[in-house]
Amino acid sequence: MVAIRVENLTKYFRKGKNVIKAVDHVTFKVSDGVAFGILGPSGHGKTTFLRLIAGLEVPTDGYIYFDDELVSAPNRVVVEPERRNVAMVFQNWALYPNMTVYDNIAFPLKMAKMSKHEIDKRVREIAEELELTHVLNHYPKELSGGQQQRTALARALVKNPKVLLLDEPFSNLDAALRDSARALVRRIQRERKLTTIIVSHDPADIFSIADIAGVIIDGKFAQVGNPSDIYSKPATTIIAALSGDVNLMSAKVIEENAVIANLKIPLPVSEKEVGDEAIVGIRPDEMKLLIEMAQGIQGFVNVGKVKVKVSSYSLGVFRVVISPVTDESIELVVVSDEPIQPGTEAYLYVRKDRIKVFAKDGRLIA
Ligand SMILES: Nc1ncnc2c1ncn2[C@@H]1O[C@H](COP(=O)(O)OP(=O)(O)O)[C@@H](O)[C@H]1O
Ligand SMILES: [Mg+2]
Repeated sequence: MVAIRVENLTKYFRKGKNVIKAVDHVTFKVSDGVAFGILGPSGHGKTTFLRLIAGLEVPTDGYIYFDDELVSAPNRVVVEPERRNVAMVFQNWALYPNMTVYDNIAFPLKMAKMSKHEIDKRVREIAEELELTHVLNHYPKELSGGQQQRTALARALVKNPKVLLLDEPFSNLDAALRDSARALVRRIQRERKLTTIIVSHDPADIFSIADIAGVIIDGKFAQVGNPSDIYSKPATTIIAALSGDVNLMSAKVIEENAVIANLKIPLPVSEKEVGDEAIVGIRPDEMKLLIEMAQGIQGFVNVGKVKVKVSSYSLGVFRVVISPVTDESIELVVVSDEPIQPGTEAYLYVRKDRIKVFAKDGRLIA
């Protein structure tokens, strides 16, 4: 397939007197056959970035190479989009409403002036793989969301592209379908060793598909690394919140603890490295509530007593809102296997190796 190298890639848009820095001096490499994921909030340059890779936008500055071939340069698309062997799946799937599934999938092959016989063979093969054979004669509006999404994917894959670009491809799917859709994309990406870039605001999309992930904020990469590192060692509080549910709490540093009302959370580093104040980050699934004080749970530490405010059921677990007993204005969320009555007092246990400490300005200390 192909490796993608991006150097100082920059795209500014002018809006009246304002300059919008959609993509701002981004440099990185996606190795051949690797799935690279970009996580970022809405409006932070993800779609623009993919459009630059596809050749649909002209860079304001910077270079894009496919292997050693220069494909984009400052103010210049060197290799036209149709010659890049890139397929893109758009957020809204962009199916042609007045064409059947068959014609939607066949469209890129017709544009490439392939023979009718070859087109038919390829369309049927990809339809079989993506379980669309029985709906080939249907129109997009007659399809379920999952079938529409798979049609968009089939249309992207039918030309055997070298690069697959996915722009929030699961956002329009019902939550129940997303996991299987992600698994399908991951399987196809691995089997074909397709160099892939997926962008999304949803960390589950990135973590389920990407081998390497980057976080884009204001058009710049704020962190690049293994998806699991971004989740467990987010470089800032903003990235911590972007990459999953997290409790971020302002704490006073007293001796070796971060103190939040009556809760004492042991610091993973010396207090000298932290200063007087810090922000503690703990994800809901890194804590447990116990009604009786236990002798200890392996890897967990008792940080103090809390009071349950409310628990609600969601995706197989209960999300329990709790407060330190001495300050009900502070709220944390913890997951629990069982519902717990509001008003119940319990001991909060935190997984010791998952406690994240940030400086007041939001940068990760440990
Ligand atoms: N064609 C355009 N003209 C002007 N501004 C644009 C254009 N495309 C995108 N932008 C702006 O660039 C920024 C990044 O947009 P986009 O890449 O779509 O972000 P994302 O995909 O992360 O939501 C936004 O502020 C958006 O309004
Ligand atoms: Mg977008």
